Order: sequence, then structure tokens, then C-alpha cells
Amino acid sequence: MTVPVLEARDICKRFPGVVALDRVSLQVFPGEILAVVGENGAGKSTLMKILSGALQPDEGEILLAGQPVRFADPRQALAHGIGIIYQELSVIEALSVGENLFLGRLPQRSGIPGTVDWPRVWREASQILERVGAPIDPQRPVRELSTAQKQLVEIARALSQDVRVLILDEPTSSLSLQETERLFAILRGLRAQGVAIIYISHRLEEVFALADRVTVLRDGQVVGTLPIAEATRDGLIRMMVGRDLSAYYRTVRSSPGAPRLEVRKLVRAGVLHDVNLTVHAGEIVGLAGLVGAGRTELARCLFGVDPIDSGEIRIDGKTVAIRNPQDAVRHGIVLVPEDRKLQGLVLILSVRENIALPVLSRLAHFGFPSRREEERLATSFVERLRIRTPSIEQRVLNLSGGNQQKVVLARALATNPRVLILDEPTRGIDVGAKAEVHALIAELAEAGMGILLISSELPEVLSMSHRVLVMSGGRIVAEFSREEATEERVLAAATRQSVAA
Ligand SMILES: Nc1ncnc2c1ncn2[C@@H]1O[C@H](COP(=O)(O)OP(=O)(O)OP(=O)(O)O)[C@@H](O)[C@H]1O
Ligand SMILES: [Mg+2]
Repeated sequence: MTVPVLEARDICKRFPGVVALDRVSLQVFPGEILAVVGENGAGKSTLMKILSGALQPDEGEILLAGQPVRFADPRQALAHGIGIIYQELSVIEALSVGENLFLGRLPQRSGIPGTVDWPRVWREASQILERVGAPIDPQRPVRELSTAQKQLVEIARALSQDVRVLILDEPTSSLSLQETERLFAILRGLRAQGVAIIYISHRLEEVFALADRVTVLRDGQVVGTLPIAEATRDGLIRMMVGRDLSAYYRTVRSSPGAPRLEVRKLVRAGVLHDVNLTVHAGEIVGLAGLVGAGRTELARCLFGVDPIDSGEIRIDGKTVAIRNPQDAVRHGIVLVPEDRKLQGLVLILSVRENIALPVLSRLAHFGFPSRREEERLATSFVERLRIRTPSIEQRVLNLSGGNQQKVVLARALATNPRVLILDEPTRGIDVGAKAEVHALIAELAEAGMGILLISSELPEVLSMSHRVLVMSGGRIVAEFSREEATEERVLAAATRQSVAA
């Protein structure tokens, strides 16, 4: 029998109030793709950080090709051929794309020690980016890139290093379908060369498309490992959540009322062109489109993050001026952003503080912050969204990725908005919690909120929305009623018009 290239034996890891890993064992063999799945907070990222040297286990051991090893830090793990793409982006915003790709190992000019061979940096960076299908100018600062492009830079960096084990922690969360396909082709190529790959995703379709075996974690323990041929979707879900899940989506029953949000002739030069749309009370309007179509840009303008050049925004029939997010919240518009790290959360504050922050003045008692109100609010959302945390006083920094996303959602909902804009609200959220988030969105619409739902998951948009708008090249290029909207039609509209625009 072949020896696993990397093996974890009885790994335990505790954090204050949490047992993140409880005697976890796992093996990965050369030339295979092992998927690791489990609910938010199950321990997936913690295990990967231990395997790649970013965290030390409390107990247990790691074996590399049968030999026990200890990695003091990620550099040591990489020196042993273990590379990782983290769940949270770790690119450095202020540096160029090329510098990020070669961080800590910039090629030097021969003969002149201490000087970087820049032509070589740009040339090799271009080649690597080309390979992942991301023709980005390597001299551009990373801060100018979209989230998807940053993720591609991150992937390119890992692929440019010779590794025998490559760990990917939710690498496709902000990639388009084409970019994902491209990544899969690269991963299959690496597998054929004998590289072992550990792949984490909440998208079970990806697991079935890619993996050879799958390991399921629940509550910090391994529930089971099986060959993909023996796994079924429902079976995996049952192993992950410990119960059956019936409905994946919940449709909205209410019928839309008066206009809540009206956008007229909205322009942001070079980005948004003459955008018109209406969202009614009790209505969920889906906003579909390819990456770069202008959906996130529209959301940012409506929430006052980016300025508009002209156009009108009306809330409940009244024209409003939105110059910043505070204005937006005051007028009843709130945005759940796609990039929680940058726009959503104050990571060093607690769950309670993050949820209460936007509504502090409302909770205040005669001008004094009311701790008890804050606690009540935070506790109710922790229960409602099943945020997994040892307490509401836990720093958000210490929550798992999916649970951070739930805090972002809670924080937006706590403002009790009239118009809710959701940009990829279920990204990184596990299958069980997804159903809960969908039910919540439907409930809010039924209570009269107007909801604009941006999502790259077409099934989510199609099943949740009363109407679907399609954006392309900064314009709204098509509108479909719930009955008319099919995946084929929406995709056709999203791709056809991008050429004409
Ligand atoms: N630095 C830390 N301090 C305290 N608790 C932590 C820390 N890191 C992780 N945890 C806790 O450990 C548990 C496992 O978290 P982990 O990030 O491994 O989950 P995950 O399976 O990757 O979830 P997700 O799907 O949401 O990314 C969670 O309860 C989390 O809150
Ligand atoms: Mg994780």
C-alpha cells in the first residue's frame, strides 16, 4: 500500500470555550484530491492551519511521507512542499500583483546581490497569471483589483511554488463559473503529476466534480471518509448536519406592494450607465450577471460607499441624497457587502458590539449606551441565525469564516431597514445554514421589506426572486418575471449583451 504523503493523527486543538478539533485523523495520498466538508465552525480551517504550520496542535502528530514532523510556521511547511490557499484573502493590498506572487522570494539579478530582477518578476508573473486565466497586469497594485482577481492572484501564488501537497480552503467563493472551471483543470493537471490536493468547499457540486475521496467533519470530529463514488448529496448533508434537510429554498408567498426603492437614470462615469430599477415592498428582486457586470458597483452606490455622478434614488416615493453609508442607513437602506473583511466587520470587536454598532443610538437610554439592550439584540440574532460562538462577547476575529458572514447579516438586519441589499449573502455559508438564511430573507420580504438580491448562484436567484434583472457592462440589459426566468435565459442575457455594451 502507498504511504500517505501527509497524515494527521489524533489532532486536538482547543480555543477558550471551544474544542475546535477533537482527535482528528486524516490521510491524503499522492495524486489524489481529498475534499473536506462540514458545517460552519466544524473545524476545517483550523485543521488546515495546523497541517500548514500556521497553528500548533495541542495534541496529536503530523506525518510527512510516514515521518513525524513539526512545522513552526508556514514557511517551514512550504519548505517541505506543503502550500495553502487561505479562506480569507492574504494578499498585500499595497504591493503590486507581481510582488505578491513572489513575496519573500523575489528573483535577484545575478552578479549584483540585493537587487531585484524586475523584468524577470513581471515576465514570470505574467506567465503564471496567464496559466490561471487571469491576464492581470503584474505591475498593478493589488488594492485596485476586484475580489475575484485577488483570489486568482492568491491561487497563482500557491501554484507557482513547487508543492507536493496543496491545500485550498474555499478557493472558489468569489470566482465565476469559467474561472472555477479553469482552476479545476489546473488542479486535475497537478493531480496527474502526483500532487496531493486537499479541497474545502461548501459547494457539494464541486466536491462531486473534483474529489476522489471526501472526509466529513462535524463538531471538530471526523464523522467519516468515503470514496466519492460511494457518496451522495443527501448522504453527505446528513453526515454534516446530523439530520435530513428537506427544502433547500423557500419561496415567498406575499405579493409585492408599493415601490420601496426607485432608482432613476443612475450614472457613475465609466461604471454604471443609466440604471433604472424598482423594488417594491415585500418584493425580492434578483440581480444576476457575470463577475464585473456592475452589480457590486451598483450596490455600493446605493449604499453611499461610492459617489454617483447623476441620477435619482427614491425611498418610499421620496427622493433621498445618499452621500455615505450613514445617510443610507438613516434613510432605511442597508447593504450586506460581499467582502466582509473590508467592509463588513470590525474584527477585533465582539459579536455583540458588531451587531449593535450601527444601531447604538437607537439602543441608547437617555444618551447612554444600554448594555442590556445590546445583549438582547445580539443574543436574539445569534439564536435566529445560529451563529456558532462560545458567547456574544467573543471577538469576531475568532469565529469561523461562515459564522463571520452570519454576523455581517445580523448587523445589517439589526438596523431594521426598509430596503435590504444583499451582495452574495450565502457565500461561505454551509448547506444547513443556507436554508435558514433563505427562510429569513423570505420572512423579511413577507414583513414588507424590499430586497435586492445579488448572487452568483443562479439557482438561489431564480428560486428566491419575484423578478430577475440582468446586468452587463454597467447596465441593466434584461428583466424576467419569476415565470420567465430560467438559467438559460438569464445566462444568455448576461453574456450576449456584454459584447454589445
Ligand atoms: N483563533 C481562534 N480563537 C478562538 N476560537 C477559534 C479560533 N479559530 C477558530 N476558532 C473556533 O474553532 C471552531 C472551528 O473553526 P474553523 O474556522 O476551523 O471552522 P470551519 O470548519 O473552517 O468553518 P467555516 O465553514 O465557517 O469556514 C469554531 O468554533 C471557531 O469559532
Ligand atoms: Mg473555514
